[in-house]
Amino acid sequence: MGLRMRVAAILALVGCLATVTESKVYTRCKLAKIFSRAGLDNYEGFSLGNWICMAYYESHYNTTAQTVLEDGSIDYGIFQINSFTWCRRAKTQEKNHCHVACSALLTDDLTDAIICAKKIVKDTQGMNYWQGWKKHCEGKELSEWKKGCEVS
Ligand SMILES: *[C@@H]1O[C@H](CO)[C@@H](O)[C@H](O)[C@H]1NC(C)=O
Repeated sequence: MGLRMRVAAILALVGCLATVTESKVYTRCKLAKIFSRAGLDNYEGFSLGNWICMAYYESHYNTTAQTVLEDGSIDYGIFQINSFTWCRRAKTQEKNHCHVACSALLTDDLTDAIICAKKIVKDTQGMNYWQGWKKHCEGKELSEWKKGCEVS
């Protein structure tokens, strides 16, 4: 490889790494706004506080959060949605109930993650899917979570 090619290759590689490692961590109020606009407030009866609290304990608002579980499946993104049932990781027999690539659940654009979270709440009849929610949010006074944010 010539020098110019090598420089180009290195730049391309650095560019790739930068894209892969870039992670977006939302602030609480920014999320509150996005969730509110996406219709999560009182979705299936769960107030906005439930969603903000849940996302905090699941991912600390980190859209690129990934957790590998014991069974080899992976939890993805801000809502830690699992590949075994809900998204497609590879061309395997995974159920992919949300009809979405797991990687789409790691982007700054939360559209796909929110659509999938809504489906989880509908299909499983509640928010029990999320251990973080069950442990820290369920049945608690949750209005604090949207305090100071410009949402109604
Ligand atoms: C977000 O999650 C990714 C993937 O787990 C991690 O590499 C990154 O450090 C996290 N960002 C913050 C600010 O915690």
